[in-house]
Parts: sequence; structure tokens; C-alpha cells
Amino acid sequence: MAPSPIQAPGKMITAQGPVDHDVPREIATDELPSVLDEYVQAARNAVEAGLDGVEVHAANGYLLHQFLSPNSNERSDEYGGSPQRRARFVVEVVSAVAQAIGAERVGVRISPGHQLNGIAEVDEGDMASTYGSLVDQIAGLKLAYLSILADPSGQLFADLSQRFSGSVIANDGFSEVTSLMSVEQTLSSGHADAVAVGRPYLANPDLEVRWAQGAELNEPNMDTFYGGGAEGYTDYPTLAEGA
Ligand SMILES: Cc1cc2nc3c(=O)[nH]c(=O)nc-3n(C[C@H](O)[C@H](O)[C@H](O)COP(=O)(O)O)c2cc1C
Repeated sequence: MAPSPIQAPGKMITAQGPVDHDVPREIATDELPSVLDEYVQAARNAVEAGLDGVEVHAANGYLLHQFLSPNSNERSDEYGGSPQRRARFVVEVVSAVAQAIGAERVGVRISPGHQLNGIAEVDEGDMASTYGSLVDQIAGLKLAYLSILADPSGQLFADLSQRFSGSVIANDGFSEVTSLMSVEQTLSSGHADAVAVGRPYLANPDLEVRWAQGAELNEPNMDTFYGGGAEGYTDYPTLAEGA
């Protein structure tokens, strides 16, 4: 079994084992079409493998988020500089993936202001312009959903949700574990149609039954997060199994 990032911290896990990360470099403008093609091919592969759809990940410091954030995007071509230009590559990727597999099979995740993995989005005006531009340009595509990792009671969340107009999924990150009460609060705000549940669902395969019954929950074990195999993912007991 491949080691997990926890077992090999700071390493990149490949089929050949853990290796050091390359030193990051700016992608040349003429390389971008091939990067976009990789997203499209990955989406096609997912559908061909039988999945219902894909989530284009533009959150949490991953590649597309690095285009959006002013501290990671230092480009001087048409993909850098203004908020609109920083949103451009994400719009192009989402549009191309939607065209390839059908917009109804495509969701997008964003995490404005989530300072993770080197992201420093601290200017609220800039965030409103960047994410506003992004959402305005994908709102017409009729995507499956927009997943926003941010404070669902915040102004930016409400603004983006309104501008998207389709289904919006909320999650406010790792600081507080999602609870039934927080889900109900978020849904009653009217700015989200659903809530993404991470750790409680990972630890409770029958979470909806437990929440409905007010039953005890299994505690998630952080040591098995991001593991290389099934442990910590498929082995938590259901109520019926006696826990
Ligand atoms: C084991 C594990 C893996 C995760 N992987 C991802 C991921 O690949 N991409 C992502 O955007 N969030 C990922 N998350 C974060 C969750 O989507 C969610 O934002 C986080 O768990 C907070 O919600 P919660 O309080 O319901 O757990 C992961 C969380 C856990 C526990």
C-alpha cells in the first residue's frame, strides 16, 4: 500500500513511492491549453469509469486557487493582474469540462479567504471582485452546483450565492466540526441549498440515521485521515453493527 502524506510528510506520493516536490514554477502561457486539456481528460475518464460527475477543485490552495489568489498569482500575461484576469483560467477550465461531459455533471468548489496551503487572500474588496467575476461567468453554464467553503453567514457567501443562482453547497472548513445544529442554521439562512459534511460522515456511515434518532456519534480518528487505504474510511461501525 502506498504511504500516506502523514507517513511521509513533505513528500509527494507517487506510484514509485514518496519523492521530493519539484520547485514550483509559473506555468508558461503556451502550456496552459495542455493543462486545461488534462482537466477535461480527467473529467472524461471519471465519467467513463462510471462516476456521475466531477467537482472542479478551485479551493484550498490547489492549482486553480493559485490563479485566483493575488499572493500566488504573479503573472503578467492575461491570466494575472486584475481580479477578472485571475479568474480567467478557472472560468476556462470549468467551461471546457462542462462542455466535455455536460454541465449537469460538473460542480465547482471555491474557498475564498481560506488561508490554506500558502494562500493569503486577505483583501475583502479584491476577494469580492475576483470571486464575483468568477461566479458571474460560470453562473450561466447551468452547473450541478457551486460548493463554497467559507463562513455561510458572511456577506461574501450571501453575495456569491445570489449571483450563482443555481444550487449552492456550504461548508465552513476545519475549525468547527459540522454538526446537525450548524447544518440547520446554515440552511435556514437561505443562502445554501445543502451542506457538505466531512468528518462526521467519514466516521459515521449511517450519519443521517444517527442524526434523525439523536444517537451517539463515532468520533473521527485524525490519525487515519489521508491514509493510503481503507483504514479510517470504510471501517467505522454503523449503529446496526453495535457502535
Ligand atoms: C480525510 C479528509 C479529506 C479531505 N479531502 C479534501 C479534499 O480533497 N478537498 C477539499 O476541498 N476538502 C477536503 N476535505 C475537507 C472537507 O471537505 C471539509 O471542508 C472539512 O472536513 C470540514 O468539514 P467538516 O467539519 O464537516 O469535517 C477533507 C477532509 C477530510 C477529513
